[in-house]
Amino acid sequence: MDIRKIFLGYFQKNGHLILPSAGLIPENDPSVLLTTAGMQQFKPFYLGIKKPPKSRIATVQKCFRTSDIDSVGYTERHLTFFEMLGNFSFGDYFKEEAIKYSLDFMVNNLMIPIEKLWVGVFSGEGELFADKESEKYWIENGIDQKKIYWFDKKENFWGPAGDTGPCGPCTEIYYDFGEKFGCGKKDCGPGCDCERFLEIWNLVFTQYDYNGSRYIDLPSKNIDTGMGLERIAAVLEGTPSVFKTSLFKEIVEKIKE
Ligand code: SER
Repeated sequence: MDIRKIFLGYFQKNGHLILPSAGLIPENDPSVLLTTAGMQQFKPFYLGIKKPPKSRIATVQKCFRTSDIDSVGYTERHLTFFEMLGNFSFGDYFKEEAIKYSLDFMVNNLMIPIEKLWVGVFSGEGELFADKESEKYWIENGIDQKKIYWFDKKENFWGPAGDTGPCGPCTEIYYDFGEKFGCGKKDCGPGCDCERFLEIWNLVFTQYDYNGSRYIDLPSKNIDTGMGLERIAAVLEGTPSVFKTSLFKEIVEKIKE
């Protein structure tokens, strides 16, 4: 099963232009050393500096996240290099459709039972409002309210990549591997460090440009989603460890040799 192909096929069918991954070294962008996310190559589209070839785009982006480096080797889920499946909207669809697409893709295309999915939404902070809208759309699309967790800015506000640029509140989807993978603590839930809940897909509502001190409204409301290929492979292959997926099998075999 090629998850990349299924993902791109789904979003192409839903009107998205499929573009190739950008290089790991960002072009004309000194804000980061290496490409950290699918949205990186599209920053000029979010900022309104350039016009996108289409208002809906999907990619599989090669990413290198130096900010995760201290977790690599200590968890079953953090990688330096990984691939990110993403759909993007530039002033086209927003929260309602982004949430609908993500659930339709996972439940009706990857056949993940909806009961296994939990979500996190942004609880608000300072001038930034709590994301009640997303909560409403998750419930409308079949997520039990008890499975919706509220998180602060540290967890559920994404970006900017680097010190300034496009960013916004986000909502994240977690897969529940079940109690037997959990720590057993009373407050174990999405966001817990144990292996029970794996964060698989981040939907960012890219509506601000952070200038280092203030959040300025972007010219339009946009979407930037990112699903870790290795993590969704772990879900589909029934292991909470990305290192045990078929994506790593050949590398591990070679090292053993
Ligand atoms: N930019 C967001 C992330 O990297 C979603 O793509 O998580």
